[in-house]
Amino acid sequence: MTTLTPTVNPTPLPGGLPDPATLARLANEFFSTLPGNAGAPGVAAGSGAVGGVPSALPAAAPILASLSNPAPAGSPLAGPGGTGTGVPGFAPPQGKVAGANLAPSAPTHVLALGNRAPALAPHAAAANGLPDNAVSIAPALEPRVGGALLGVPQGHAASEAPVSASERSPYYFTSPGGHGWPREPQEIVVPSHGLAAPETFGLPGDDALRGLLTLNRPEYGTRDGSARYFLDEKENAAPRTPTGGAHPPFDVNAVRRDFPILQERVNGKPLVWFDNAATTHKPQAVIDRLAYFYAHENSNIHRAAHALAARATDAYEHARKTVQRFIGASSPEEIVFVRGTTEAINLVAKTWGVQNVGEGDEIIVSHLEHHANIVPWQQLAALKGAKLRVIPVDDSGQVLLDEYRKLLNDRTKIVSVTQVSNALGTVVPVREIVELAHRAGAKALVDGAQSISHMRVDVQALDADFFVFSGHKIYGPTGIGVVYGKREVLEAMPPWQGGGNMIQDVTFEKTVFHGAPARFEAGTGNIADAVGLGAALDYVSRIGIENIARYEHDLLAYATSVLAPVPGVRLVGTARDKASVLSFVLKGYTTEEVGQALSREGIAVRAGHHCAQPILRRFGLEATVRPSLAFYNTCDEVDALVSVVRGLAPRQ
Ligand code: ALA
Repeated sequence: MTTLTPTVNPTPLPGGLPDPATLARLANEFFSTLPGNAGAPGVAAGSGAVGGVPSALPAAAPILASLSNPAPAGSPLAGPGGTGTGVPGFAPPQGKVAGANLAPSAPTHVLALGNRAPALAPHAAAANGLPDNAVSIAPALEPRVGGALLGVPQGHAASEAPVSASERSPYYFTSPGGHGWPREPQEIVVPSHGLAAPETFGLPGDDALRGLLTLNRPEYGTRDGSARYFLDEKENAAPRTPTGGAHPPFDVNAVRRDFPILQERVNGKPLVWFDNAATTHKPQAVIDRLAYFYAHENSNIHRAAHALAARATDAYEHARKTVQRFIGASSPEEIVFVRGTTEAINLVAKTWGVQNVGEGDEIIVSHLEHHANIVPWQQLAALKGAKLRVIPVDDSGQVLLDEYRKLLNDRTKIVSVTQVSNALGTVVPVREIVELAHRAGAKALVDGAQSISHMRVDVQALDADFFVFSGHKIYGPTGIGVVYGKREVLEAMPPWQGGGNMIQDVTFEKTVFHGAPARFEAGTGNIADAVGLGAALDYVSRIGIENIARYEHDLLAYATSVLAPVPGVRLVGTARDKASVLSFVLKGYTTEEVGQALSREGIAVRAGHHCAQPILRRFGLEATVRPSLAFYNTCDEVDALVSVVRGLAPRQ
């Protein structure tokens, strides 16, 4: 019988596990002893040992060629055939037992390789073998072929119809011909059978959630109980999809397997991420798309005639089209990539604002705004001698439309409001606000930072002149965001920053600028993260934003129904129409103390002023505890939070 011998330096891991190298070597030795492998190189115990001293990874090398190891099959880092790294000098193992190679793809720890699984299947397979209900991503079999499954535009391989000079885009590698990527969103048909339902795992499903709400819902809302926060039973009935069909079931467990970070433990407890209003986590599809970009496409864009510049430009412009479709813009030229919502609002204030706002003019914001939708307008007002006016809110945190009407006049130049309050969760009636602004002859900007991940956004239906959001709030990377602007509005705006990429021609006498969007994208942009944002939006589209909205609505209703009755809890923000956010204070505790108590249990919330001091002060507060939900959160997680809050004994 073969003896498996420890190798040199078997540094044990916590919990007594051997180190990755040892694990890998033991695996090699084990598989070498399988029937049919007897006598294979590396089989005999100590075959590489000299004088009884085991050598490091001796004759096992044919299986484990190197610890600078191949990327796991399916990783976008995998080379041709899906097995290699493309790392010079590394030979993929040949003809060995599938799955035998346990060594990590540095720097990933071998024990973390399980986290890669979500990249390989529609969602990661359920442990109990139940099928999942949506396609996310598939393995990279060949770099560019596998890329198609990551949403990589396959333009270079596609045969192209000739494009006339007048149709040609200003970029080298894009054209109205489309270069092979779909012009319309591809409908993924989600099968309506064989689904893994939350009930299978002992979690409440949609019906149970609704039952809880019907049976157990206190008359919360205004403190006198006169109104409930949420939609009534009629509105709470199963929503219809835009095509009129009922939503397919939403499988939160399948979704959760797409987010590797949800497997983290914090303070020894499973991570519960309730800080989604600050930032959201990234599905494996986004992580893989970013890795794929850097492994196969990385280049500057719009600037060179080489192959990688073509790939990178195609990927970037494809992401722009994905954003366009996702928010219902009429053209990709209405989509400007920026760093995030803050930069987006600054861009509008410092270009459109400087051009159009003058002394004595008025700018309207609401009391709910994030500092990012206050400060740039204050700066503009100070620069121009203009006035900032504020739409007040009622005690539930909803804007007072009648008061807003009174603020509008012929000096109003722009109205800039959030669609969802980051501090209270109020869903603001932005369509009415935009319409009233237009009637007064003003432009309207909608801050979608907190709405984009929770509800269908259709900028043409909203009729906003500008709509802005950040990628990282919708499961995409940080450092990338969007300004949507109506084409005619963008075309009339002066550039903001000057430099490369935004010009058509430069002499020392004068510069001719590009049209939008390039005019507003000076310098090298955040190419990879724009591509990552496209992947995030594709991911959300596959799940279905209506599915997400419905699930989150029910989850927020459930969370409110169990948190509101906890002794000492005061909910802040009780509007009938809310999304995601449950701001509260607990009698006798600072918000920091509550946040720390939750963190000890692995539960992440934001505690503080949420960059929205004016609205908290409207409620007499400097800070709240703010759990904010996403579609990967569950009722169990809500229960865990409520249990910690309940466990903090009321202090007078
Ligand atoms: N705007 C982010 C928040 O609300 C940072 O937390």
